[in-house]
Amino acid sequence: MSFDGAIKALSTDALKYVKDGNVIGLGSGRAATAFVKSLSAYTKAKNISVQGVPTSLQIKLIAEEGGIPLLEADQVDKIDVVFDGADQIDSQKYLIKGGGGALLRENILISAARKIVIMADSSKFVKNFNRKIPIEVHPLARNTVTSTLKKIGGKPELRSLDRGYPFITENGNIIIDCDFGTIKNPKNLAQKIIGIAGVMEVGIFTRKPDVIYKAKSGGKFEEIT
Ligand code: A5P
Repeated sequence: MSFDGAIKALSTDALKYVKDGNVIGLGSGRAATAFVKSLSAYTKAKNISVQGVPTSLQIKLIAEEGGIPLLEADQVDKIDVVFDGADQIDSQKYLIKGGGGALLRENILISAARKIVIMADSSKFVKNFNRKIPIEVHPLARNTVTSTLKKIGGKPELRSLDRGYPFITENGNIIIDCDFGTIKNPKNLAQKIIGIAGVMEVGIFTRKPDVIYKAKSGGKFEEIT
């Protein structure tokens, strides 16, 4: 099922959280892309100025194309509002992030944000997480982290590109996608994983969003606060 119409509609609605002069965190992926395109048209139409902080080269290119002035994350200590997608959202409003590999930068911006707006389609909403957790790992810790993940009950797998080359993040790290089955206590699991030496970021985000948009079929959406 395509949620493109609903994602476009909700990304326009989400513009109500943008104020003149805001520093805006720009997430990565399809939902974030739809939002950045809406933001670009909106700032031009309303003649307001914002500055965007990209979480990846992917979204930086979209923002550049839309003429949004950009800052790097190390030039700011606070983000007014961050707009991002998610890979899964559980009943406690925790998030799985990192399907596109941008989890480290996404978490830096989310941690610095005054407001967090997450946009995702209805297929991503679950009671308990049940998809693989993306984990960003320093390349030198590949084997030690893999073996520790197995010891704590995971089935780790190195993320690769189509032709078998390892996926390398924009930070020069690898991604291990780790299957833990159904996750009943994500906060506890996230703490265990982030405590492993060589783990740079874990794709379980436990800071709850202020606003969640759920894209539905037929171009409809719901806003959950
Ligand atoms: C990027 O690393 C991810 O965290 C994305 O935010 C997530 O994969 C959602 O992407 P889509 O909006 O493309 O589904």
